[in-house]
Amino acid sequence: MESSCRILVLISGQGTNLQAIIDGCFDNLNADVIGVISNRADAYGLIRAHQHEIDTSCVLVHDNESREEYDQRLMLAIDKYQPDLIVLAGFMRILGEELVLKYQGRMINIHPSLLPRHPGLNTHQRAMEAGDTEHGCSVHFVIPALDAGPVILQAKVPVYPEDSIEELSERVHEQEHAIYPLVVKWFSQQRLSLIDGQAYLDDKPIGIHGYAPD
Ligand code: GRF
Repeated sequence: MESSCRILVLISGQGTNLQAIIDGCFDNLNADVIGVISNRADAYGLIRAHQHEIDTSCVLVHDNESREEYDQRLMLAIDKYQPDLIVLAGFMRILGEELVLKYQGRMINIHPSLLPRHPGLNTHQRAMEAGDTEHGCSVHFVIPALDAGPVILQAKVPVYPEDSIEELSERVHEQEHAIYPLVVKWFSQQRLSLIDGQAYLDDKPIGIHGYAPD
């Protein structure tokens, strides 16, 4: 990757993480968001992309289409951009094994919990119901098993007894916007890798809770 790292972002909704990554790329000469793909035509993130003159594509789900057929069309759309890194930023679709294996090692996701705690949906509610005193978010490499890929970086937030789901969610979201651009930057600097299911930063294995300075 001698030239700038080509980043493709996949979204379904608001795109606040997309925005944080676009903003991060202004300060990072090694990376450019060269495209945004959405599975929803009304995703607000598409407007954010247009405001920055970033190319967009919609890959909408067709009636009676199988998961495999959708993934084939999505792969074609992805490959048109020739990305170095694929960033899932609130892309609300489970991706099949063929697609995930094709891009493994260069596809990352952000999940709103301290993985391996609370994979799946409704993480803020589940953290509160479980009585967790801390919660947070994780950036991880994507592997075929859902929300189970090696964690690269986590950020923790406290959970207060009087929190509403919205307050907790907002606290986590704020941290997402800090850690996701940082991981994108590491990747664009060629400091991150996934080898035999293990994530590395600067050739040092990353622990199960993500990078932690000594
Ligand atoms: C984030 O909470 C992220 O953790 C989850 O989807 C949400 C996307 O938010 N995967 P936004 O569209 O980036 O605002």
